[in-house]
Amino acid sequence: MSEEGQGEAAPRGLAVVILAAGKGTRLKSERPKVLHAIGGKPLVAHVIAAASRMVSPRDIYVVVGHEAERVRGALQATGVRFVEQADQRGTGHALQCARQAIEGYENVVVLSGDVPLIRPETIERLWRLHEAERTAMTLLSARPQDPTGYGRVVRKAPGEPDVEAIVEQNSLAPGQEKVGEINAGIYAFRVAPLLAHVDELKNENPHGEFYLTDMAAILRGAGERVVAVEAPDAAEVLGANTIVELVALDARLRAETAARLMAEGVTIFRPESCVIDAEVEIAPDTVIEPFVQLLGATRIGSGCTIRSFTVIENCTLGDGVLVQPGCMLEASSAGDGARIGPFTHFRPGAEIGPEAHVGNFVEIKKARLGKGAKANHLTYLGDAEIGEGANIGAGTITCNYDGANKYMTRIGKGVFVGSDATLVAPVRIEDGAYIGAGSCITRDVPADALAVGRARQVTKAGWAAARRARRSKKE
Ligand code: UD1
Ligand code: CA
Repeated sequence: MSEEGQGEAAPRGLAVVILAAGKGTRLKSERPKVLHAIGGKPLVAHVIAAASRMVSPRDIYVVVGHEAERVRGALQATGVRFVEQADQRGTGHALQCARQAIEGYENVVVLSGDVPLIRPETIERLWRLHEAERTAMTLLSARPQDPTGYGRVVRKAPGEPDVEAIVEQNSLAPGQEKVGEINAGIYAFRVAPLLAHVDELKNENPHGEFYLTDMAAILRGAGERVVAVEAPDAAEVLGANTIVELVALDARLRAETAARLMAEGVTIFRPESCVIDAEVEIAPDTVIEPFVQLLGATRIGSGCTIRSFTVIENCTLGDGVLVQPGCMLEASSAGDGARIGPFTHFRPGAEIGPEAHVGNFVEIKKARLGKGAKANHLTYLGDAEIGEGANIGAGTITCNYDGANKYMTRIGKGVFVGSDATLVAPVRIEDGAYIGAGSCITRDVPADALAVGRARQVTKAGWAAARRARRSKKE
């Protein structure tokens, strides 16, 4: 149990507790289940985001246990508070562990860390109903196509809101497997009756776990009301218990993202082949070709074309940018009208000015290219500043690293760097200078000068013919 949330006496409004301590055995993975990602974000982060978007004021607690440090670390930035469940002895035990955190609140909403598509409006609806009815327990149910594996909601009588019990898959009585209404794993409780009875949970079931779902029958037995409200769309309460389920939720989320972007005026050809993270922003009139990945906090302006087999992660592109096939762009930016690729690699910190051109097999790292600058072929530019309108010839390399330290290359406006130049940093080439092809430049070049740093050519007239003649005589 963490110190957070302890020792506050007066009843406060609403606590949200997200259950995220389980191992996720069915995923057969080293990584804790709630850190598996869909739409580019961990399962539990989706749940936290949904809880945070509720209109009602609430404090959010996450129950962690399996690989607790790893889960805490991944969620540090979200500002949630944590509760520790050292041994994972079931969902009911998880809530028992949260006793001290929640006892000061009037109500608690419990969410599952592995039910990531839940919408804030649905949580809000459950909570509003719970508050209005003042029932001890209100649970969210759904009718998915296939209820297998979920807990089933047994109503007091058909069509009545009141619930008799929740029966887990492995405890179903004969005939109960036909019950189509499932428990979504999302509940609201009044804290007083919950804490008065939560220790009555028993682990007499095939898993030897304390099931939170048994609270329905316990509270009913104590004369409290338990009601269920059905989610309008069963899809939003689907769980991610296996890789197959996880990938299905990922596809659903990405399809929703693509549909939203298309509704906003973005053309995505073959959207089912694209991987677009939930937080990506794209302006209208941009075209995304098949097999493109747009990841993380990527923002793309209007009128851009992103051609096939390109991966863009955490980048900002202006308007009218063309990205040709096969590019890998990471944590970088490009201004309006820039042209990139095919086969360009932006490592973090590439800043490409408007109308700049970066072509095939060019790698750029921590380098700024001014407006209209060009690096069209086979080049490495690292730790560099390149002025407006400069032209970087094919095969140019900034030698930025001496094995221990990195140094800057500064290239002024309108500089022409001939093909196959090596620029040994730190070095500065002032505005308008000209570098001869094949040069190795180790010293600064003043404005408008020509620098050539290569061995002088030697030409021996007739040498090749004489050699051929010598050889044929030997044979
Ligand atoms: C649970 C419900 C089931 C419901 C389904 C909906 C129980 C017993 N069953 O089943 O009725 O249909 O969710 O998705 O609750 N967790 C802990 N500590 C633990 C065990 C689990 O924090 O000791 C967390 C898990 O990390 C997970 C959540 O609780 O995020 C649900 O646990 P899980 O084992 O996935 O329950 P289900 O079998 O899916
Ligand atoms: Ca589950």
